[in-house]
Amino acid sequence: MASPPDIQDRTRAKKEVRRIKNLPTVPGIVAKISRIVENPETSVADVGRLISQDQVLSAKVLRMANSAFFGMSRKISSIPQALIILGFEVVKGLVLTSSVFDMIQKSMAGLWEHSIGCAAASGVIATYLGRDDAEEVLVAGLLHDLGKVVLALNLPAEMSLVREKVAQDRLYFHEAETQVLDFDHAEIGQWLAEHWNLPESLSEPMRLHHRPEKAVVKPEWTAIVHLADIIVRAIGFGNGGDLLVPEISPAAWSLLGLKKTDFLPILENLEPKLASLRDLTALA
Ligand SMILES: [Fe+2]
Ligand SMILES: [Fe+2]
Repeated sequence: MASPPDIQDRTRAKKEVRRIKNLPTVPGIVAKISRIVENPETSVADVGRLISQDQVLSAKVLRMANSAFFGMSRKISSIPQALIILGFEVVKGLVLTSSVFDMIQKSMAGLWEHSIGCAAASGVIATYLGRDDAEEVLVAGLLHDLGKVVLALNLPAEMSLVREKVAQDRLYFHEAETQVLDFDHAEIGQWLAEHWNLPESLSEPMRLHHRPEKAVVKPEWTAIVHLADIIVRAIGFGNGGDLLVPEISPAAWSLLGLKKTDFLPILENLEPKLASLRDLTALA
């Protein structure tokens, strides 16, 4: 019996990604951290020590942890402290993000800025909605377009064709990717997230931020990231590759229970955060 088209696409995407040579250091450290964490004997201090061994990485993670993203009242000065205050999954998300974005060439600085903008917007929306998981939603926002990094680094010829199509045919980036590759960055992001043992709550927004109505694991997270992605594009903070700003999914909008009048306070909360995040773009 033939596999459903969705599975066929995923298999093809995985084959393409297997050709990838530029990623080993990222799964290396993340896989190592994941392995260590699975051992029940492991303490938070052990995990902290492992991350702390890489001083450049730790410095970047601490810089992000102390940035306007989280708005902590006290300074986080060590990785073990970050693990206690922010939680393991958040720190793992920061490790992953700062490692991956290290690989971004200067030409992709716009995507990095788009990603931190989307992270900040995700955190602002989650906080506005009174959620207590704003830090984790923020990491989902940070990671949402990770598939684009992988594609840009490994399939550069195809991606310049994608950019041409975006400009000439007035397509959304993910539509142009699907025309050129038969899959898009969301599919690649989901696969990488699984490969790196990220929780489904983080991989789902990576896969479904352009189709939030399909989310089932943490539909609110995907809806928030979807909305955050559109808001930062509309504001013009960073550049994820799109020239058009899509419509907000009505399903995501009603799931979050937002009204039109909520837009203004969300934007007012977001703007100072974006202003103070500009220095983080130097991380790339
Ligand atoms: Fe995207
Ligand atoms: Fe995006």
